[in-house]
Amino acid sequence: MKNLLRALSGEALDVPPVWLMRQAGRYLPEYRAVRARAGSFLEVCYTPELAEEVTLQPIRRFGFDAAILFADILLVPQALGQGLRFVEGEGPRLDPVGDVVALGRLKPVDEIDEVLGPVYETVARLSRSLPGEVALIGFAGAPWTVASYMVAGRSTPDQGPARAWMYRDPKGFARLIDLITQATVHYLGRQIEAGAEAVKLFDSWAGSLAPEMFTRFAIEPVRQIVAALKVRHRHVPVIGFPRGAGAMYPQFAAATGVAAVALDSAVPLGWARDTMSPSDSPPDSGLESPGVALQGNLDPMLMVTGGAALTETAKGIVAAMRGAPHIFNLGHGITPDANPAHVEQLLRAVRG
Ligand code: CP3
Repeated sequence: MKNLLRALSGEALDVPPVWLMRQAGRYLPEYRAVRARAGSFLEVCYTPELAEEVTLQPIRRFGFDAAILFADILLVPQALGQGLRFVEGEGPRLDPVGDVVALGRLKPVDEIDEVLGPVYETVARLSRSLPGEVALIGFAGAPWTVASYMVAGRSTPDQGPARAWMYRDPKGFARLIDLITQATVHYLGRQIEAGAEAVKLFDSWAGSLAPEMFTRFAIEPVRQIVAALKVRHRHVPVIGFPRGAGAMYPQFAAATGVAAVALDSAVPLGWARDTMSPSDSPPDSGLESPGVALQGNLDPMLMVTGGAALTETAKGIVAAMRGAPHIFNLGHGITPDANPAHVEQLLRAVRG
C-alpha cells in the first residue's frame, strides 16, 4: 500500500509520508510559467492538461508522497451559479449570496457537473500519470468555509457577514450549509470515481466559530459528508482540516468519522497525540478510542526563513509523533515567498 494510505489507515511508519498544503503554486517558477501561459488561475483549474501538469510539478521536483489535485474550493460556488473571479493581488471575488432570496437563485446540485467536468477529467488523467507510489488526494472546501466566501463574496478577516447571517436567520443559513453539503458529497464522490484515493475537506475558517456553532456548522456537515461518502466508498479516507479549532479539535476528530485530522501550527503535538491518536491501551481495556491519524503541523514561515530552525523544528515534529500514525505537512499552505530550496531541506530533515 502507498505510504500515505498506510498512515491514513492508522499505521505508524518509521518515516512519515510527506506532502505540503498548496505544494503546487506560486513559489514554483514552473507554476508561474504555466499560469502566465494560461492567462489566469481559473483557466489552469478548468484545463485538464494544465491542471494535471501543475499538480505533477512538485512531485517531479521534490518526490512528495502525495499529490493534491490542482483546483480550488471556490469552484463549487461557481458551479452552483455564483459569479467568481480572482483579482490579481487581492484574491477571490464572488457575487455575494447574502439571504434566502439569493440562495433560491442558485442552481440545483445535479447541474454542477456542467462546470466541474474538467476537474474530474484532471483527476482521471492524474490517476494514470502519477508515479505508482504517490497517492492522489482530491479535495473540497468544508461547508462553513465555502459559505463564508459565498456570503461575503471575498476573503474576510473574521467571516463577519456569514456569522451575522448565522445568528440572524439560523434556518436560512442552515439551508445554505445544506446545499453546500449536498454539492460537496456529489463533487467528492465524482473525484473518487475518477481516481482520488483520499479526500480532504478544508475548513480554513473553522477557528472563527463559537463552540455551539462549531458543532453545528463545522462538525455536523463534515460528519454528514463523511457518512454519505462511506456508503459507496467505504475504503476512501477523509482528512479533515478544521483550522484554528483549538480545544474543539478532539471533538471534531471523534464526531466526524474522518480518518485523519490536519493540525494547524498552533496545536501542541503532545496534546494532540494524547487526545486524538489511537490509544495505546489494549483493545479490550474498554478505554481505547479508535483515534485518527494526525497531519501537520510545521509553521509555513519556516519555508521562507529556512536555516537551523527549519531542520530542528521539523525533526522535533517527527520525534513528537513517532509511534503514532502521522503525515508530515505544514500547519497551513506554503506561501508564494517560500524558497523551493527550503522544501528540499525539509525533506532531508524528515526523511533523514
Ligand atoms: O497544491 C495545492 O494545494 C493546489 C490546490 C489548491 C489551491 N487552493 C490552489 C490555489 C487548494 C487545495 C486550494 C484550497 C483553497 N482555496 C483554500 C483552503 C486552504 C487554505 O489555504 O486555507 C482556500 C481558502 C481557497 C480559496 C482561495 N484560493 C483564496 C482565498 C485564494 C487567493 C489567496 C491566495 O492565496 O492567492 C485562492 C487562489 C489560489 N488557489 C491559488 C492557488 C495556487 C493562487 C492563484 C494564483 O495563481 O494566483
